[in-house]
Amino acid sequence: MSNNTVTLNFSDGREPIELPVLDSSMGNPVIDIRMLAAHGIYTLDAGFTSTASCESGITFIDGDEGLLSHRGYDIEDLAYKSDFIEVCYLLLYGELPTAAQKHAFESSIRHHSMVHDQVVNVFRGFRRDAHPMALMIGVTGAMSAFYPDAHDVFDPAVRDLAAHRLLAKVPTVAAWAHKYNLGEPFMYPQHRLGYAANFLYMMQATPCENYEVNPVLARALERIFILHADHEQNASTSTVRLAGSTGATPFACIAAGMASLWGPLHGGANEAVLKMLEEIGDVSKIPEIIERAKDKTNPFRLMGFGHRIYKNFDPRAKVIRETAHEVLNELDMNDDPLFKVALELERIALEDEYFIEKKLYPNVDFYSGIVFRALGIPSSMFTPLFALARTAGWVAQWSEMLSSPGHKIGRPRQRYIGEKMREYVPLEKRTG
Ligand code: CMC
Repeated sequence: MSNNTVTLNFSDGREPIELPVLDSSMGNPVIDIRMLAAHGIYTLDAGFTSTASCESGITFIDGDEGLLSHRGYDIEDLAYKSDFIEVCYLLLYGELPTAAQKHAFESSIRHHSMVHDQVVNVFRGFRRDAHPMALMIGVTGAMSAFYPDAHDVFDPAVRDLAAHRLLAKVPTVAAWAHKYNLGEPFMYPQHRLGYAANFLYMMQATPCENYEVNPVLARALERIFILHADHEQNASTSTVRLAGSTGATPFACIAAGMASLWGPLHGGANEAVLKMLEEIGDVSKIPEIIERAKDKTNPFRLMGFGHRIYKNFDPRAKVIRETAHEVLNELDMNDDPLFKVALELERIALEDEYFIEKKLYPNVDFYSGIVFRALGIPSSMFTPLFALARTAGWVAQWSEMLSSPGHKIGRPRQRYIGEKMREYVPLEKRTG
């Protein structure tokens, strides 16, 4: 630990304040400003561009180098050598499991994969055409009523059980949201199948015919789950942490995370990418769309491009791009017109001065939609799939926060720019 400090000097003659500078195990040092409140000073950082909201040992990103790692393991190693269950364990417990630990963990997740039978009634309260994210948020939040034993969140065993339940049940809820939209019967989890294969089964099988999971496609989906499992303190994870900091039940906190993920600037982008590619339709229309994205008077953005942190490349996009090739090959869909549009759009944007100067590269969402679509997954389910995978990171971050010594409720300050104190005017005397 270095003894670096930084001194805050004021031009109004106030006493300077010395602040400690804390080293990080990887990445930038941080200025510890916690003592500023005692001096009656707050910092302003809307959008959190320069503010660390917590200390965490789970995920590290170096946006300039295009590096993403979980617990010290590179995302590419995990994507190609590991599986989703192992990554969930790693995020939650800090180490890769031994064979025995993995077996026990996997058995527990399988054991908890069914939802309470009454959850079916919760689904039935929704309109048939409800967006599956609305269903997921509602049903996941409602599960807090089915597990009142999860309320004692400061007990590690309670947290552990809740984490297992969420990892196990969210895929069932996601698959059932899709089935509900279709008006098809809900399919129960199959313990013989792996995590991604079981999800494909619950989403795509019907009771009328045999359904064989294609192992290449299940593996591709598993890889996409790994790539989406955690991503440091993004909007939805920060939402889960903030909601969880109050001691709220984990099912409600994860539902809050899902709500935050839904927006098109976050997890909703994969759905928006596919809509955009469909609108473009043909490579000849690409120059026009690029010009629209660059036009400052037009709010349109090239969906699937740019990232708050990655200013070199998104390492997840690299793996998904390869996965897209593998899946389209397996399904004999190499001539897929949308894939062609995506490849060409990427090529043109990467050569365009605007995108180069602003360091806008394809992000994880740019190719995931292409893979999902090839897997027969409708675009309304893209964000639910992101939510399913990100549940791993959410429960790990939530659990880490609650087990941290000196845990505090999250309560940001503000810079007030409203009216000064004034007198209340009775209704009959108000004018204008
Ligand atoms: N197309 C065109 N221009 C863009 C784009 C884009 N996709 N992204 C950023 N810019 C421009 C933006 O207009 C701004 O220009 P200027 O400096 O002239 O005002 C500049 O680049 C910086 O953009 P910003 O909005 O200040 O950057 P940010 O870090 O706040 O936003 C982002 C990051 C991901 C929200 C943004 O790049 C974006 O809206 N991308 C499209 C949506 C998307 O693909 N989201 C998925 C993110 S990855 C998955 C996830 O983490 O959820």
